[in-house]
Amino acid sequence: MNRKQFISRISGGAVLIALTSSSSFFINACSNTSNPVNSQGGVASLPVIQGTAGTNTITLAIGATSPLAAVNSVALIQNGSSRILVKRISDTSFLAVSAICTHAGCVITEYTISGAAYVCPCHGSQFHPDGTVLQGPASSGLTTYPTQFANGQLTVTIK
Ligand code: FES
Repeated sequence: MNRKQFISRISGGAVLIALTSSSSFFINACSNTSNPVNSQGGVASLPVIQGTAGTNTITLAIGATSPLAAVNSVALIQNGSSRILVKRISDTSFLAVSAICTHAGCVITEYTISGAAYVCPCHGSQFHPDGTVLQGPASSGLTTYPTQFANGQLTVTIK
């Protein structure tokens, strides 16, 4: 191997090392925004229910086949531009919070299989069903809404 061939091989190796290092940087940078719960397989998409808009309210019937029929079940309720997360906490009680993430405005569409947290698909923030932050980057809780349940109908007051 002459001097020119030697330098060519060395510089090619340096480029390969540089590419490998920069690829690792980009992979690490992307993984920082991945959802840690997703990577563990503990997250599922929320069932979506179409609600009915009233004056400052959204209502929905909850029968035996509703995604909210069982205690501890959760769902994303939508009507027009409204998006609300609902968790059933007893036969007659529900928690309702805004599904708009306080970090950067994504719609929260996932939850932990245990039902203990809502999970934002954008950057992995997690919220307790009462709206408080369990994991950032979000730093403020979700807007909460009062609920009423009577005769199999849930009413969420949104204003
Ligand atoms: S928009 Fe929800 S975590 Fe960033």
